[in-house]
Amino acid sequence: MSVQSEKEQIKFPELPLITEDLLSKAQASAACQTAEYTLAERKELLDKIKKLLKQQDAVLVAHYYTSDDLQQLAEESGGYVADSLEMARFGHDHPASTLIVAGVRFMGETAKILNPEKRVLMPDIEATCSLDLECPADLFTDFCDAHPEYTSVVYANTSAAVKARADWVVTSGIALPIIKHLAERNEKVLWAPDRHLGSYVQRETGVDMLIWPGSCVIHEQFKADGIRNLKKEYPKAQVLVHPESPAEVVDLADVVGSTTGLIKASLNPEVNEFIVATEPGIFYKMKQASPGKIFLEAPSGGLGGTCESCLRCPWMAMNGLRNLAEVLETGANEITIEEDIRVKALVPIQRMLDFAREQQIVVKDKGNA
Ligand code: 13P
Repeated sequence: MSVQSEKEQIKFPELPLITEDLLSKAQASAACQTAEYTLAERKELLDKIKKLLKQQDAVLVAHYYTSDDLQQLAEESGGYVADSLEMARFGHDHPASTLIVAGVRFMGETAKILNPEKRVLMPDIEATCSLDLECPADLFTDFCDAHPEYTSVVYANTSAAVKARADWVVTSGIALPIIKHLAERNEKVLWAPDRHLGSYVQRETGVDMLIWPGSCVIHEQFKADGIRNLKKEYPKAQVLVHPESPAEVVDLADVVGSTTGLIKASLNPEVNEFIVATEPGIFYKMKQASPGKIFLEAPSGGLGGTCESCLRCPWMAMNGLRNLAEVLETGANEITIEEDIRVKALVPIQRMLDFAREQQIVVKDKGNA
């Protein structure tokens, strides 16, 4: 049997469904956080949080996809806005004994894996990620066991238990160099869970890969036709695409990159208009760095649940000022990870960090992008 037809015989497990009900629940929780504040309520909350951060020896680390309010607060209070990996690294370098991770669950877990001596709290511990949900540790472990000849590479958007079973962890910013490195060593790759990022790195490297069929509910929605039409209105616009988007969208990109990579691309002094295919929380940083430029959301289909055409990640949107204040007051929502899982999960994360250092790959610069 040829290698290709052998591959076609390989059956992936049935993945848990991301149902409309699940999305509606996340959107309903998010709505409690995003409901308009009066100016007085907002100021009161911000003052309270800043005071509590100091009292609790805590620092706020927020992902680029969180609300403008949270990103601004992280900056103003001596915290940090970054991608998940840099959120964890910053937490490690910062002297605070408590890390408040505004993001989704796997980010809190990664912070804890790298900083076991610190208390890691999240505004809402139920904030998750469709990629993480679509890759349960038991299914992943069984699949790896069935294909021991493959090196397993998992995206950062996975649980600690999945990372504990993986050979490598990658972020979107370092996936290509690591897969190229494995290709040079003639290794075959079992990739999980994002099929679009997986097929992008496969197309770029030609490596022999088994690709788990998960996807991000946000990036999955971008539509190539819509982008083509928008390009007619804005012919000078550059198209910036996160590689979790479908291949036909990636094909239209002027720049394909991680959140950090896309923010950097938006700094190009020769370009003033951008069509951006990623979660729109990223516009906060893009507009802050280039206030005069035009940033347009790439057209999309529409998420299920109650949100008609919404590119905001419903789980990221569960982070707000109200639950942040509450967590600081109560100490609730602490991330805990069983020590044997944490120690095992640290191995592939450390492998990625060591690779980045050896190859002098900047996964993310310190600073604004
Ligand atoms: P980055 O690593 O590019 O920040 O991506 C994070 C993410 O979760 C994208 O959906």
